[in-house]
Amino acid sequence: MIITIDGPAAAGKGTLASVLAQAYKLAYFDTGMVYRAVGLDMYLHNEDPQNEKIAEKYAQNLTFTHMHELAKNPDFRSAIGGNYASIVSAHPKVRAALLKMQQDFSKNPVFADGTPAEGAIYDGRDTGTVVCPHADIKFFITASTEVRAMRRFKEFQSKGIQTDFETVLADMKSRDERDSSRATAPMKPAEDAIVFDTSEMSIEDVFNFCLKIIDKKLKNS
Ligand code: C5P
Repeated sequence: MIITIDGPAAAGKGTLASVLAQAYKLAYFDTGMVYRAVGLDMYLHNEDPQNEKIAEKYAQNLTFTHMHELAKNPDFRSAIGGNYASIVSAHPKVRAALLKMQQDFSKNPVFADGTPAEGAIYDGRDTGTVVCPHADIKFFITASTEVRAMRRFKEFQSKGIQTDFETVLADMKSRDERDSSRATAPMKPAEDAIVFDTSEMSIEDVFNFCLKIIDKKLKNS
């Protein structure tokens, strides 16, 4: 079974994907990691993320091992990592170079320790439209900009990353703008996606909502 969870930054995709992956024993692919890895690699090498040609080279050279190494850097999840990821992910050549790596995972999904899994959950804004258009279930979750900025702010605080709410909100707005207006893979739900707003929902509400849909699908398959 392949499930995709798309939506804007800090809508709760990652949290939902991990709980569902655990509940259904599915491998989890957080696709934002591939763009964060390319972005951070460029940042660490003082490269200009706007330079598509150089960004493409970094994308072509990315492996799962290198991505997991980069993920240990505190800036992988910081605002710097997020901004660099957002810039490099707007380059069509970068997206093309990273597509196969993401799609191959659905053919042979594995858990973090390398053992094979029966299926996978993908989290990322084009996973239902581009990466896995044939997924069994596609969710598209969103929430208001303020709610998402507050969730991200609290996440930064819990990790000890120094910032303030206004900065996080401003960053969120500019990332949303860039992610939805870009020509390549703009943020939009797949036609057959189940779209819902989590602004007023707890993680339990969201989990239970998805559980019903997945169980129904499994019963009918
Ligand atoms: O989800 P996360 O915040 O880690 O994603 C970082 C950035 O990577 C996003 O802001 C977006 O620009 C980009 N991204 C993307 N396509 C995906 C996942 C992430 O363009 N499937």
